[in-house]
Amino acid sequence: MAGVHLTCRGNLPWLRHCEWRPNSTQSPDHRWCRTLGRMGSSFGVLFRISTFGESHGPGLGVVVDGCPARLPLTSTDIQTELDRRRPGQNRLVTQRREPDQVEILSGIVDGMTLGTPIAMLIRNEDARSQDYEPRGLEAAAAGMVHAYRPSHADYTYTAKYGIRAIAGGGRASARETAARVAAGAVAQQLLAQRTGVSIVAWVDEVWGIAATVDDAIVSRADVDTNDIRCPDSEIAAKMIERIERARKDGDSVGGTIRVVARGVPSGWGEPVFDKLDADLAKAMMSIPAVKGVEIGSGFGGTRLTGSEHNDLFYQRDDGRIGTRTNRSGGIQGGISNGEAVTMRVAFKPTATIMQPQDTVDERGNPAVLASRGRHDPCVLPRAVPIVEAMFALVLADHYLRHQVNVQIP
Ligand SMILES: Cc1cc2nc3c(=O)[nH]c(=O)nc-3n(C[C@H](O)[C@H](O)[C@H](O)COP(=O)(O)O)c2cc1C
Repeated sequence: MAGVHLTCRGNLPWLRHCEWRPNSTQSPDHRWCRTLGRMGSSFGVLFRISTFGESHGPGLGVVVDGCPARLPLTSTDIQTELDRRRPGQNRLVTQRREPDQVEILSGIVDGMTLGTPIAMLIRNEDARSQDYEPRGLEAAAAGMVHAYRPSHADYTYTAKYGIRAIAGGGRASARETAARVAAGAVAQQLLAQRTGVSIVAWVDEVWGIAATVDDAIVSRADVDTNDIRCPDSEIAAKMIERIERARKDGDSVGGTIRVVARGVPSGWGEPVFDKLDADLAKAMMSIPAVKGVEIGSGFGGTRLTGSEHNDLFYQRDDGRIGTRTNRSGGIQGGISNGEAVTMRVAFKPTATIMQPQDTVDERGNPAVLASRGRHDPCVLPRAVPIVEAMFALVLADHYLRHQVNVQIP
């Protein structure tokens, strides 16, 4: 049976006539079209997720493939994480009102995973697409086209596809990350129950206002004590003040999130291109608004000498090898060394602001855009569970990959 390979159609006209013959040797062209046909909505190797849905569509969701069977898992485990990411939680975040109730469609029966794909759906309930229409009836009557939001994904999506979901930013919207958080909750249950690994992230800095937090002992309870999710309460108050000022000014601010995974044994991660730190960096860079990542000492380490920076080995009381310091961030040569895995993730100031800004419309005409709609004046408090989720997805994947590597000779 020969047929046209569906992924070749439309997007890739030069491959439109790719012949697909099951049970026959595939042409080199077909290999191309398989590679090019991937649209970047899947992540992971053995613990693999695929997310779907747009910000203002009927809903969004995720399919988690590769979660082992007989893992105790309830909708509460997932809902708890979604509630931490949800919009409208407090005055520091977007006032879009989404309950973000998870519906589990498959893969779990009587609180236990089946080993089959876990599909989860979250319906959109409070989309206000009119906020993304050209302003006013006169503008609409004149056939006015949409202006590109500076530093958002409007222009690049249009340049690539010639079409985009204008309302809410479509797939570029951080609404998509609700699906990742749901998947991340599954990964966190797997890690907690099978390995004892725990992950904690917190807001470390907002607009240069920096917290002091001990990553050896900080807990999620400490993090969730205030709206900004910074366990240093004195600094948290200053951060909140700064974000409120940005909101009043119709402006936005950015900052950094720190994350630590404790209990990661030595041996996770694969040389050469699938290093644990390489996969973590990719995971974090895939979060909207992320502009930088550091593992361990990161950029600060460049200001030290080797003798100051090296993590010296010693034998612990329990016989295991440890390091006296952890500037490596728990990873050496792309493989975990048994110390805590530590990262820092940089988020830019939210692109959509209420102040008028110069831009161009879809026809290239100059335009001035002062956004309406509901936006986060600072994305950091809601990004904390997203960072934890992406971290968990990478660790769960490498945990399973390590099992395969060491158990199958
Ligand atoms: C939790 C979270 C909330 C966000 N909220 C907004 C928002 O309200 N308005 C906005 O313009 N961008 C928001 N963003 C960021 C945009 O989605 C992102 O900047 C945009 O897709 C362009 O991608 P880039 O910044 O990665 O290049 C948010 C990001 C995160 C992680």
